[in-house]
Amino acid sequence: MLEGQDGEATRKAMEILVAIGTIYAADRLLPVTSVQIAGVSYDNLGEAGLEFLAEMASTDAKVKVLTTLNPAGMDIENWQILGIDADFALNQRRVIEAYTKMGVGPTCSCTPYLFGNLPHYGEHIAWAESSAVCYANSVLGARTNREGGPSALAAALTGRTPNYGFHLSENRRPTLTVLVHATLTGTHDFGTLGIAVGKAIESRKIKAIPYFRGLPGASMEELKSFCASIATYGGLALFHMEGITPESVLFQAPGDTITITRSDLEAADHFLNDPLSVNQVDFVSLGCPHLSLQEIARVADQLKGKKVRKTFWITTARPTKRIADQMGYTSIIEEAGAVFATDTCCVVAPIKGRFKAIATDSAKACYYAAAKNEFKIRFLPFDEVIAEALK
Ligand code: F3S
Repeated sequence: MLEGQDGEATRKAMEILVAIGTIYAADRLLPVTSVQIAGVSYDNLGEAGLEFLAEMASTDAKVKVLTTLNPAGMDIENWQILGIDADFALNQRRVIEAYTKMGVGPTCSCTPYLFGNLPHYGEHIAWAESSAVCYANSVLGARTNREGGPSALAAALTGRTPNYGFHLSENRRPTLTVLVHATLTGTHDFGTLGIAVGKAIESRKIKAIPYFRGLPGASMEELKSFCASIATYGGLALFHMEGITPESVLFQAPGDTITITRSDLEAADHFLNDPLSVNQVDFVSLGCPHLSLQEIARVADQLKGKKVRKTFWITTARPTKRIADQMGYTSIIEEAGAVFATDTCCVVAPIKGRFKAIATDSAKACYYAAAKNEFKIRFLPFDEVIAEALK
């Protein structure tokens, strides 16, 4: 491939991988079975990113393995309802077209594991979305480094990734025990745990792989929320949870231990919530990471026969939305006045300056809502977010 036998685009892609492999002293390239590409929203890519993709797509570039896309900056089919302007929509479509020309599935979601891009235990993959990387490594037991946009695309075009980092068993050992002395319920609580542990690890200035003890169980939704949070606040791509994640059975809990209590979780909650936001919420969003079918059912159940009084985005993947359509959840939610923001999310859509304050259950969305969009923050449990939209 490096000599150009598979064409110029593949040669360039292989050049990137060889450079990365050399930097990290990888002994060889591994075949990967799936790729998740980030860097899809035109809001993040800009004109330079679009030009790079368009140029790649104009060549012979074709992906060699199952490859899915992260959220775009808009609902691909229904962007007008989100207040997206026509120029942005045109450029966003060009981004998606470039990817699809290269054979990438235009899934536009950060939860590819919910609809078909589901690697199994021990499978080597190359994913870029930080919450999905953490979920794949920790919850599924697949193996991936946290790829950047270009390295993920290079892996897709070659079907290879350098053998280093989390692909190696010796780098997946836990280094720190986290003892949780608190009962956790729901996506909000698991998000606060991600903040508390992420910040504790960051303050020690160490690179840790935590081994959690004391958690009796966790739903898929709680785990996806936790992954997004700990990847955001601690930069983590792998953790183990005793009795919950598959590789936890391979290891003993490390001696170095930190303890998390209810008061640590309350401190994490207070750290995010802006007291000035209480009466200013004009935007409500659920679905960071993208909502599962069960979460959509829960929203429908609580909105049935009611009317929302604020802009309320339900962000999810299009395949999940299609099932929600068939189950009747979509019509209940839309009759209540909430809007499906399919293919996108409140972080990657171009909405800076449009709202004063956001209410959400997602610790990750809070971080970017403040840092990128300059909104004030109401960080609430899932059901209270829905109640906030009805106020
Ligand atoms: Fe997904 Fe957007 Fe959150 S990409 S993890 S919904 S910031």
